[in-house]
Amino acid sequence: MTVIAVFNQKGGVGKTTVTANLAAAMAQNGHAPFVIDLDPQAHLSHYWGFSQQVQKPRHSVHEFFRGVLPLSELAVALDNGIHFVPSHLELSKVDAQITRHRDHIWRLKLGLTAEMLAGSTPILIDCGPMLGVLSFAALLAADLILVPVAPETLALNGAAMTERTLLGLEKLDERKQRRYLLNRHTPGSVASEAVLKQMQRHFYNEVLKTRIRYSESFEAAVIGQSNVFDIEPNGSAAQDFGFLLDELVENELVKLHG
Ligand SMILES: Nc1ncnc2c1ncn2[C@@H]1O[C@H](COP(=O)(O)OP(=O)(O)O)[C@@H](O)[C@H]1O
Ligand SMILES: [Mg+2]
Repeated sequence: MTVIAVFNQKGGVGKTTVTANLAAAMAQNGHAPFVIDLDPQAHLSHYWGFSQQVQKPRHSVHEFFRGVLPLSELAVALDNGIHFVPSHLELSKVDAQITRHRDHIWRLKLGLTAEMLAGSTPILIDCGPMLGVLSFAALLAADLILVPVAPETLALNGAAMTERTLLGLEKLDERKQRRYLLNRHTPGSVASEAVLKQMQRHFYNEVLKTRIRYSESFEAAVIGQSNVFDIEPNGSAAQDFGFLLDELVENELVKLHG
C-alpha cells in the first residue's frame, strides 16, 4: 500500500511535474496508478486535458468532499492506464469553509481505505501550495510525503516551513515517511550545489539520491499534454524519473504489485 502526497508550501517547485511524470514512470512499467489532483487551481487537470470550461463540476474531486460520489466513480481512465480524479476551482470551497469542514481533513484517508483503493495500486496526490483542509487531508492520507525543492534563493525557507507543518501533523497521526527531492537541478551550478548541501545538512538521509535535472522536455510535455517518456524516451528527464521510481521501490517507500 502506498499513498504518496507530493507537497511543498512553495509554488512552482515542481509538485505537479513530479506527480505527472512519476505516475507516467509507473504506467511505463505496466502499473496503473491512481492520481488525484487536489489543487483547486487544477494545473494537472488542465495538463491532462480536463479544461474547467468544458468539464462539469460533477466530475471533480470536489464531489468526493461533498459526499456525492466515491473516488472510484470520479476517476477517469486515461490512455496510458492511469486512473485520474480531476480537480476544479470549486474545490477551493473546502479550504475556504474551514470551520464547517474541519472533519474533512480525515475524509481522504477514510475514503481511500473504505474504497480499498490504497491496497491495490499506488496513489499519487498533487497538492496545491495552500496549507488548508485539502493539504492536511492529503498529508494524513499519505504513507510517503514527497517534497520537491527547487534550487533557488530561499528554497530552504519553503522547505523549512513545510517541515514545521509536517512536525505539527505528527501530533495528529504517526510520523510519515518523507523524502526531499532536488528538482530543476543543474549539475555543477552554484545554486544547485548550495541548495543540495543545505538540504543534506537539514534533512540528512531524507534527501533522495535521485535529482531531477533541468530539462526543456518538461515544458514540452505540458504543451503536448504528454509526459517526458513520450516526448524524449532517452532524454535526461525520462531517465531521472526512471531513477526516482527505482530508488523509491528499492527503499520500499513505494510498493508496486505484479
Ligand atoms: N526539472 C525541470 N526542468 C525544467 N522545468 C521544470 C522542471 N520541473 C518543473 N519545471 C517547470 O516549472 C514550472 C513549475 O512546475 P510545477 O510542477 O507546475 O510546480 P508546482 O506544482 O510546485 O507549482 C512548470 O512550468 C514546469 O514545467
Ligand atoms: Mg502544481
